[in-house]
Amino acid sequence: MRHKLNGGSLRTRLQQLARGMCGLLTLGVMTTPALAQTDYPTRTITLIVPFAAGGPTDVVARIVANHMSRTLGQQIVIENVVGSGGTTAGTRAMRSPPDGYTIMMGHMGTHAAAVALYPNLAYNPSSDFEPIGMAAGMPVFILARKDFPAKDLKEFVSYLRDNGSKVNMAHAGVGSVAFATCLLLNSSIGMRPAMTPFQGTGPAMNALVAGRVDYMCDQVVTVVAPVKAGTIRAYAVGTAKRNPALPDVPTSIEAGLPEFQASAWNALFAPKGTPQSIIVKLNAALGLALDDKDTRKQLLDLGGDIPNADGRTPQALAALVKSEIAKWTPIIRSASPAH
Ligand code: MLT
Repeated sequence: MRHKLNGGSLRTRLQQLARGMCGLLTLGVMTTPALAQTDYPTRTITLIVPFAAGGPTDVVARIVANHMSRTLGQQIVIENVVGSGGTTAGTRAMRSPPDGYTIMMGHMGTHAAAVALYPNLAYNPSSDFEPIGMAAGMPVFILARKDFPAKDLKEFVSYLRDNGSKVNMAHAGVGSVAFATCLLLNSSIGMRPAMTPFQGTGPAMNALVAGRVDYMCDQVVTVVAPVKAGTIRAYAVGTAKRNPALPDVPTSIEAGLPEFQASAWNALFAPKGTPQSIIVKLNAALGLALDDKDTRKQLLDLGGDIPNADGRTPQALAALVKSEIAKWTPIIRSASPAH
């Protein structure tokens, strides 16, 4: 049966509907932050990894996310978003809704070195993200294929000086840790090799093991197994102390190239505007993961440094991003062939 509405009753009905809509909107606005505080997370969280599967960022992300998902009671799904040395992923993460359901495992490349390497970088690492916390420190090693004709770093450097145009360096894209740290290596020994980019040091490592490239710089977690297996050579680590997971590999200072100081880090970031209540939950879950015995053992066995409680706060990560941009920008500018 049809109801006929005259002008007066139609106006009244519309006014009632409008009041109802206003009520709903007000309710929505007022309850969203409260829901975020109490209910988050209610569904799967996507963790963007800016490089290929099997590389150091992917490995750290999977170890940490595994424990965090148990704390949060929701799955954390890794999405490998490759390209442009990690900056494609940085842009994607920056543009994601700030609701805690898309976060990113950034690193020294995406959130520091990229600033000097990309004048038109789409994101500002310091102001376009909410820092969640640092996951692990990543010492960087100078590596070569297993049959490279140099038994130590001195011979390696001298071989590169004599044969610079013939050797081929692998990296994970302009902006990656592998690219930035080997740029420092190349400039300290005054050479410009041919370079082969990969979508991460996972595939670059496969090429090094297969002898398709000559050398690269890579983060410890994916270096320990092939060095122990003798499928690649490690000449030095760019930190002040030797790494406990590879105690036979000298530091660059011991090996005669003190200019090569290279240590990276992996850290969790959320898009700017993600509610602080969510950042607090994610940071707490990260802290529990880094205090967990099994998670610690996995990271330590792979040579990673685990930040202490002070080093894993959002504030500490915000300060780290700023200081790393300030540190790497002049290094990259003076090492870059374009400058
Ligand atoms: C990776 O996971 O492939 C690396 O972190 C790449 C890099 O930055 O060197």
